[in-house]
Amino acid sequence: MDSADITADLSEVLYTKADIETRLAEIGAQVDRDYAGKNPLLVGVLNGAVMVMADLSRTLHIDCAMDWMAISSYGMGTQSSGVVRILKDLSTDLEGRHVLVVEDIIDTGLTLTYLMQNLASRNPASLEIMAMFRKPDAMKAEIDVKYIGFDLPNQFVVGYGLDYAGRYRNLTDVGILAPHVYS
Ligand code: IMP
Repeated sequence: MDSADITADLSEVLYTKADIETRLAEIGAQVDRDYAGKNPLLVGVLNGAVMVMADLSRTLHIDCAMDWMAISSYGMGTQSSGVVRILKDLSTDLEGRHVLVVEDIIDTGLTLTYLMQNLASRNPASLEIMAMFRKPDAMKAEIDVKYIGFDLPNQFVVGYGLDYAGRYRNLTDVGILAPHVYS
């Protein structure tokens, strides 16, 4: 699905499939350089990171492994609380591994703060973050992100793995959801 299929549901298209592809190729080249010979483990957080994990990993020329976590945030409505429950843990032992967490979006950063503390306690050789999107004006936690796709305005966006009520994850572009869809 692309934005032309749902024009009435988006108030603005922010990044197209082509924009995302171009940016991911640049980030992939950086990851190739930084992790040469290190066989990094890419850790994706379900479900949102599925698209970026699939696309970023395929830009790489180095060996890498992938694993997945599923977490649920005990939030109030649409607000993240930072209190997180692990629904599916990794199958891989992180001891001595170079771990790169691959995230769809950092909003408040509270979920990722919890996750990073949890992963750091498993003694990886290194632990870094790649996030496709970030909302700098929404962030409530200081997070050191090594690779960032695009910064977004502080509005609710959908597409490229990001959903609203389970919809729009398969939208190839990323856009601001029109208020009439959720009000
Ligand atoms: P945080 O703890 O506030 O950083 O929440 C991060 C999670 O909230 C992301 O992994 C997404 O699942 C979800 N999220 C935050 N902002 C958006 C958005 O604009 N659209 C869709 N999902 C979002």
